[in-house]
Amino acid sequence: SAAEKGGHEYFMLKEIEEQPEALANTLRGHFVNGRIVLDEQRMSDQDLRDVDKVFVIACGSSYHAGLVAKYAIEHWCRLPVEVELASEFRYRDPVLDRDTLVVAISQSGETADTLEAVRHAREQKARVLAICNTNGAQIPRESDAVLYTHAGPEIGVASTKAFLAQIVANYLVGLALAQARGTKYPDEVAREFAELEAMPEAVSRVLTTVERVRALGRELADSKAVLFLGRHVGFPVALEGALKLKELAYMHAEGFAAGELKHGPIALIEEGLPVVVVMPSPKDNPVVHTKLVSNISEIQARGARTIVIASENDDIVRPFADHLIEIPAVPTLLQPLVSTVPLQVLAAEIARSRGYDVDKPRNLAKSVTVE
Ligand code: G6P
Repeated sequence: SAAEKGGHEYFMLKEIEEQPEALANTLRGHFVNGRIVLDEQRMSDQDLRDVDKVFVIACGSSYHAGLVAKYAIEHWCRLPVEVELASEFRYRDPVLDRDTLVVAISQSGETADTLEAVRHAREQKARVLAICNTNGAQIPRESDAVLYTHAGPEIGVASTKAFLAQIVANYLVGLALAQARGTKYPDEVAREFAELEAMPEAVSRVLTTVERVRALGRELADSKAVLFLGRHVGFPVALEGALKLKELAYMHAEGFAAGELKHGPIALIEEGLPVVVVMPSPKDNPVVHTKLVSNISEIQARGARTIVIASENDDIVRPFADHLIEIPAVPTLLQPLVSTVPLQVLAAEIARSRGYDVDKPRNLAKSVTVE
């Protein structure tokens, strides 16, 4: 009923709007007496100190959350992080031992490939930490430790609030590792946590642009294809934006690392093709920002219709944007928490305009319990 959907036409929009709460609930209780605590963990500080390599394994949107996490964990902890699709991980011969930390991300906690990957990792004596949104699900039951995301039940088949909560949970793992390993001072950890705590408010501010993004979605509903470009953490955001559009609008969509443009994707650019570009912060990440601006000018010169997601203080990129979607200016590593939101809304609205069921896209299941 409309009441269950909080007055919305579909659950997905309700769940998009619940994201600030999902983040606040996932952070709650994890910073106590000046320290990050992963209180649901069965992993000691010594265990975290022993880690010499991290694997993140997941499927679908959860995999994209892992790709985002890699940037933060490597930067904060100086540990190599590999992110891998669960379905690939388990069928090769990954190098694991007892000092390997495997982070298995799953909203449902029941995804067959992720579960099998967890079993494989434990057989190789790696330690497995599950990040899961569903209490008592199979993946957390079979893991050494679990950190729950508290996004609440997610009904829409395409993940939204669970995805943002997974990023935050991964960041808590990264900060716990940095704290135990001493790669960050306690005051730096405290500062990072405070930045995370400011994110629910930042996401609320992005939500004020929902109606404008929906209007743009209606304009794009007849497009044949949409490309998504990003760099750094904007790259996995581009992948997630493209996945959302495929899942919901059945539209051909691809996410690319903007630096790869010249190695193929630029050949796809033609007059009027919508290209979504996820800009990094101009202040925080000026080098990458400049590179992306030059990528946009190249695609614009070839007639693409540029849809630019940029920080509200970004005056440089304005002239290159046929459509500008502004997001709050936040530190680069936290940007996916705000830049993903308009991409979710865009996909949902394009799907709705095309007459599709946003909550139950064809051929897809909320949790894939068979291989
Ligand atoms: C399905 C869902 C996606 C989800 C993926 C992984 O494909 O439609 O939204 O990201 O499964 O699910 P999990 O529950 O393991 O996070």
